[in-house]
Amino acid sequence: MNYTAKMLRDDALKGKNIVVTGGGSGLGKSMTKYFLELGAQVAITSRNLDKLKNTAKELEEATGGTCLPVQCDVRHYDQVEAMRDQVLASFGSVDILLNNAAGNFIAPTERLSANAFDTIIDIVLKGTKNCTLAFGKYWIDTKYTNTNVLNIVTTYAWTGSSYVVPSATAKAGVLALTRSLAVEWAKYGMRFNAIAPGPFPTKGAWDRLFPEELKDKFDMTKQVPLRRVGDHQELANLAAYLVSDFAAYVNGEVVTIDGGEWLQGAGQFNLFQDIPEHMWDQLEAMIKAKGKK
Ligand code: HXC
Ligand code: NAP
Repeated sequence: MNYTAKMLRDDALKGKNIVVTGGGSGLGKSMTKYFLELGAQVAITSRNLDKLKNTAKELEEATGGTCLPVQCDVRHYDQVEAMRDQVLASFGSVDILLNNAAGNFIAPTERLSANAFDTIIDIVLKGTKNCTLAFGKYWIDTKYTNTNVLNIVTTYAWTGSSYVVPSATAKAGVLALTRSLAVEWAKYGMRFNAIAPGPFPTKGAWDRLFPEELKDKFDMTKQVPLRRVGDHQELANLAAYLVSDFAAYVNGEVVTIDGGEWLQGAGQFNLFQDIPEHMWDQLEAMIKAKGKK
């Protein structure tokens, strides 16, 4: 067994109906595939209906499950309500919302137009708010309980990060939303959690954040103490656990899955890992000698 193995028992999500925003590609697609394998019915939503249809067909063929493609731009509340109603009409109920859709690009902040900044805030923060409100209010109104929302953030939601400032700003808001509603809406039988992934290669993120010319200059694995990027199944395992009833007592948590990446950037003396082993004898002697003066 290794970290690419599937973790949960086969019926872990049997009977659950799940909505995955941005489920047609990247990490959303990988999580959707595992949810289907675990017995859930999954609706995938994004702006591009053709992409969603292709993904749904591929995943249904691969898993034998039910995957419903629904077009929806999460920036628009009317579209989110229409998506919710379309999923309810097909599935009868929804138990789990996974807010995974996002937009991002690398740019010095002073180069951004107001519209560019808004575009990212609208997809990430407003989109997550729109979906959370549409499903949350519905669950409250219908007294439908044992539901949960999982939000995908990043580690720079709390560290901040240069050159992706709209994304960092929006993800910080999503994290605050997660923790706030974990308390406020627990009385309605809802749980709220988040996952903060480190680098997991996907076309959507990699093409936008590491254009070809930059790929050689920035080796992401060097930023990770475990010296590798994440495998999609590792993330899918964690997501499936958090949305499942096995995590019924996990509420308001953000789970980091980044091989230690953000802590490597944070620790003041972590740069010392570049000192070769043989130099430590010399350094120790120098430091002790100073102490005796
Ligand atoms: C500066 C830019 C820009 C860039 C777009 N804009 N790209 N400004 N640098 N590279 C500006 C445009 O000029 C425009 O402003 C405004 O942003 C909106 O652009 P549109 O192309 O009209 O927007 P839209 O078609 O809605 O597309 C949204 C998008 C696009 C975010 C720009 O990239 C997209 O669809 N992304 C979805 C998928 C994605 O980003 N996935 C990566 C998630 S990765 P003006 O003023 O000219 O009108 C992630 C990982 C985090 O979050 C951590 C990784 C380790
Ligand atoms: P991705 O494939 O580009 O996924 C983003 C998805 O969001 C796409 O399916 C896209 O579909 C959808 N989307 C974008 N704008 C939308 C809108 N307005 N309405 C509805 N859907 C929209 O990138 P990814 O790497 O898998 O990212 C998935 C999540 O993981 C994101 O939340 C991201 O911030 C997070 N994350 C990723 C990494 C990583 O290393 N990959 C690291 C940390 C966090 P359409 O284009 O069809 O709309």
